[in-house]
Amino acid sequence: MAQRPYIVGNWKMHGTRSMLSEARAIDRAAERLIKAEVALAPPFTLIHATRKEAGLIAVGAQDCHPADGGAHTGDISAAMLKDAGASFVIVGHSERRADHGETDADVKAKAEAALGVGLSVIVCVGETEAQRDAGQAEEVVAAQLEGSLPRGEHAPEKTTVAYEPVWAIGTGRTPTVEDVGAMHRAIRARLEQIYGEAGKQVRILYGGSVKPDNAAELLAADEVGGALVGGASLTAESFLGIIVAAAERGEA
Ligand code: PGA
Repeated sequence: MAQRPYIVGNWKMHGTRSMLSEARAIDRAAERLIKAEVALAPPFTLIHATRKEAGLIAVGAQDCHPADGGAHTGDISAAMLKDAGASFVIVGHSERRADHGETDADVKAKAEAALGVGLSVIVCVGETEAQRDAGQAEEVVAAQLEGSLPRGEHAPEKTTVAYEPVWAIGTGRTPTVEDVGAMHRAIRARLEQIYGEAGKQVRILYGGSVKPDNAAELLAADEVGGALVGGASLTAESFLGIIVAAAERGEA
């Protein structure tokens, strides 16, 4: 693995201030585990407090609006996230695509808005179970990448891709290591088509039921540069299990 493994916790719609102690514990441990790069995306309401409690890890958001500001009740702009202490934002998570009808074009607009204010982005892609069963997984992911990835001169340096098969999210099921490797190789090829030489450096994370006991195996798959972790990032104990596995890999 060329770069340090990047392990990102996505707290989804979980977390009140009582959970800041978990963020603090993750931050303290991350200081020792320098072979892994650690980040946490709490809900909007905890970004500022998490930034204050956890000074070493990166803190980010789970979504942003594509506009700079305006009459968009309930939405949050990329500039607001930056002001609150975020350094990155996750865009195009399958739960946003499904719950809010976000299209590839929406995801791309959000990603470009985030890059425009200096945030990094994690762009999520992944097929449904029906699409995989129909043999369309690579084709679906390729189309998502084509439509969702931000463009522009500095886009590749600030972009990470997260491959998250929808059927593996929160289910305890994961693809085989071979399937993860095959998809990540296909994503790499597509990144090189889209970004040219710069596409070689874009990190590709795997996400979907990553746990302390399967992290080492999944992180060893071809072209896997880290993990996007939902359920197992909610306690410091389980998230640290994954970070330790990644740090050991980072030593290799
Ligand atoms: P999970 O979620 O780890 O709970 O499967 C991953 C994600 O949705 O980012």
